[in-house]
Order: sequence, then structure tokens, then C-alpha cells
Amino acid sequence: KILVLDFGSQYNQLITRRIREFGVYSELHSHRLTAEEIKEMNPTGIILSGGPNSVYAEDSFRCDPAIFELDIPVLGICYGMQLMTHHYGGKVERALQREYGKANLQVEGEPSLFKDLPKEQVVWMSHSDKVVEAPAGFSVDATSPSCPVSAISYEEKKMYGVQFHPEVRHSEYGNEVLKRFVFDICEEKGDWTMENFIELEVEKIREQVGDQKVLCALSGGVDSSVVAALIHRAIGDQLTCIFVDHGLLRKDEADTVMDTFSEGFNMNVIKVDAQERFMSKLRGVSDPEQKRKIIGNEFIYVFDEQADELKDIDYLAQGTLYTDIIESGTETAQTIKSHHNVGGLPEDMQFKLIEPLNALFKDEVRALGTELGVPDHIVWRQPFPGPGLAIRVLGEITDEKLTIVRESDAILREEVKNAGLERDIWQYFTVLPDIRSVGVMGDARTYDYTVGIRAVTSIDGMTSDWARIPYDVLELISTRIVNEVDHVNRIVYDVTSKPPSTIEWE
Ligand code: XMP
Repeated sequence: KILVLDFGSQYNQLITRRIREFGVYSELHSHRLTAEEIKEMNPTGIILSGGPNSVYAEDSFRCDPAIFELDIPVLGICYGMQLMTHHYGGKVERALQREYGKANLQVEGEPSLFKDLPKEQVVWMSHSDKVVEAPAGFSVDATSPSCPVSAISYEEKKMYGVQFHPEVRHSEYGNEVLKRFVFDICEEKGDWTMENFIELEVEKIREQVGDQKVLCALSGGVDSSVVAALIHRAIGDQLTCIFVDHGLLRKDEADTVMDTFSEGFNMNVIKVDAQERFMSKLRGVSDPEQKRKIIGNEFIYVFDEQADELKDIDYLAQGTLYTDIIESGTETAQTIKSHHNVGGLPEDMQFKLIEPLNALFKDEVRALGTELGVPDHIVWRQPFPGPGLAIRVLGEITDEKLTIVRESDAILREEVKNAGLERDIWQYFTVLPDIRSVGVMGDARTYDYTVGIRAVTSIDGMTSDWARIPYDVLELISTRIVNEVDHVNRIVYDVTSKPPSTIEWE
């Protein structure tokens, strides 16, 4: 196991993630961990992450200096290297200019961290302070034009430092450098798997929860589904899930979720049929933000009522991912935090939080889900907004319009699947703008709705491009929707990227 100590860099979890990709277990911990605590964890290596501080600042993050005496290899990255330098009596200075971006690294001699790697390589730098003098006993292993001491080592003590960020993909051989540390220096084997992760987490959850009860809001999305499956594996019937059917779900979605979890996994799932409740609140409302607000609030009321009825619930499980935490810019606090899927559960709910996915990235969650036996159609589900189809019927929502979006969306999904494009397109759905146009069907004039097809490629939903769906697939989708869905006589394809558009139309 490799421990990564967190000094506040935005890349710190990326380090643990890269190491897990090598098949080696790695955990991120606070820099406050004492040498004694670390010894108990028995790691094969320690990585000191980067961070925004300066080692000379009064209030900068420090680590227990005894860490350097544990006889465990240490790799300091960026701030971590400066900290190591400072500890061993080298010199760190404030650079005149912040260095941010690619730099050309020149490796000197035969340092073990760079074994068999090219002497010249591109690395990613992001720092203001830098080491100007390596401590006594350390050798300078690499230089770069603006950073003469870019890598240091004291091989006998197994102390290493790099100023650049090997965990960032822009560092050409970054992964290799990390591997040299993990495999050659720390002598890890690389036999860790997702199965081990499950065992560890199950153990942790059991320990944390004891014989108390856990509640989970199950949406059928990847994150909440995987968190439910994991906790269920750990504590079985002590977990209860609440699945709210607000009537704004896609075709067959409610049944699929219930079949998968209630029957397939034999979980306690309470399905709340709240269609009428939501629809009555939404009638006559056409403003998108208003719709979102109504749905978010109503969800909270429904969830709250159910939680109240259940009684004796101690924990609330959430599928918070690491990216959610970074984006909200907070540490994992033990207080209730807004649920990104549903727009915030009430502050006064007195649950303790349990968030077993909060160290993982989306693709790791998918791998975990697969390992737990969550079916592919859920694990690979495209993102679906909390307010559901309500923001895909533009303007006022009626039952007829909901049916049009639901049915056209089902056809689109079926044909994307038939064309084998499911995993190439990040998100694809239909929308119903509030316009009608003239058409002709069977010699008669029609005056019916236009359906828009939205399909995008994206990495994280922050930006996107329109998906280049082949024309013949589009043609098939268009023909089927017009033929099979009542009151539709025209199909348009959305060819805007985000920005300037957004993915959803509302
Ligand atoms: P936009 O439309 O802003 O969407 O480009 C980016 C991603 O976020 C999803 N989305 C939402 N998800 N509640 C959610 O849980 C919402 O209110 C919401 N609005 C948009 C959208 O589907 C896309 O994946």
C-alpha cells in the first residue's frame, strides 16, 4: 500500500488513482497523520503531494518530521519535494515568476527514478517556490531551464523528490517515473484489484455502521446504484433505499430500477409513486428555473416524509464522487451536503453521512459496479438530469408532451444501441420545443410537433460537441419517430456545441 499525504494540491487524488491503475492499492490521507499512525498502516511507500503553500510560511502545512525516519521510501512531489528539502537543510526559494505548463527536463546520471527513461523529456510544472540547493547528501537528478533542481534523491535513505507533476498526463513519462518509485523502490507487486477494494470497503462500512440503519436515495443513476450495491453487500437489510418516481423518468425506467435492485439484488427498496404530486405542482409552469426549483423541493418533501416514517435511521448514503468534492471545493465534511442529483436535501436532517465512493473517479465507479454485479445498462447509463424529462419538454408540461418525449427518446435510444454507438456518444436524448409546423401525411395536411434530437460527445459535461451520428442512423430514427409517435411531423438535429449552447435545452 502506498500512502499519499495531502498538502492541498488539486492533483493529489490523481496520484492515488494512477497508482491504483498500476494494480497497487493507494490511499490519500491528511498531512496531519503522525509517523506512529503511518507505521501502523504499514505502507510500502509514502508520497508527499503538492500544495499551494510555501515551506517558509508560518501557517504552511507540515508533516510529522519523524516520517523521514521510518525507513519507508518517500517521494515528494512539488511542494512535497520542497518540504523534504527544507527538512534535510537544503534551500527553497520563491521564484520570481510562477512556472506553469510544459517544461523540458534533462536527466543527469543514472537515477533510479528515471531508470531506462529518455534523458530529455517533457514534464508538467506548476509551482512558484523552487528548490535552489539540494540538501547535503542528495544528488540533483534532473534540471530544466527555469528550475535547475527539478529532481533530487538520496538513494541510501530512499528519499526522492521531483518538482514536476508526474501524475498529470502532460508529463510525458510521468507514469513511468511513478512506476519506478512504486515497483522498483517500494517493491510493490501490482496484484491489487477492484475485488480487494470491495473487501476493504465492506469491512470499513461494517465497522462504521455496526448494527445501525442506512438510508439511500436511489435514482437509478450510476453513482447511487453502485453505492447502494456496495452498502448492500456490506450490511444487507440494514440498508433501505428510496426510489422516487416523479413521473418524469424515461420509458420503462422505474420498472428497470425496481427489477434490478428490488428483485435482482433483493434490496429493501421503497418505490414512491409521486407522479400526481409532481405534475400538480408543475401544471401551468413554463419557466425552466422555476420547474427545477419545484422538482428539487418536492423531491425533498417526499424524501423527508419517507425518512420520517422509517424512523431509527442513522446514516444517509450518498454516491458522492471525488470529482464532486473537488468541484464543490470542500473537504469531506461530516455534515449533510447538497445532493448533486436532486438539488439539496434539507440541512436539518440529522443523519450521519456515508460516502464510500468519495475517493473514486467515474470510470472507477463503473468498474466497481461491474465487479459488484450491477448490470451494464445501469453501469453504462448516460447521465440523466434530476429534473428528468421536465427540462426536455420546453415550456409548460402536459401529459401529451411528456408522452411524445418519452416515446421518441425510447426510439432514439433503441436505434443508437442497434447502431452500436452507445458508448461513443456521451449523452443522447430527444427534446420537445414548443413549436408546431405544417406537414403532409397520407395526402392530408398535418399541424404537429417538432422533435429535436440532441446527441453529444463530452468528457465531463462541462464542454461538448455534437455527435456525428451517421446519416442513415439519423434517417432511421427520424422515420421511426414520425411513424410511431403521434403528433410529430418533423425532426431536427441539434448541431451546436457547448459552449455556446448547453447540452440540455432548458
Ligand atoms: P447542461 O445542459 O448544463 O448540462 O450543458 C450538463 C450536464 O448536466 C446535466 N444536467 C443536470 N443534472 N440536475 C442534474 O442532476 C439538473 O438540473 C441538470 N441540468 C443539466 C445534463 O444532463 C448534462 O449531462
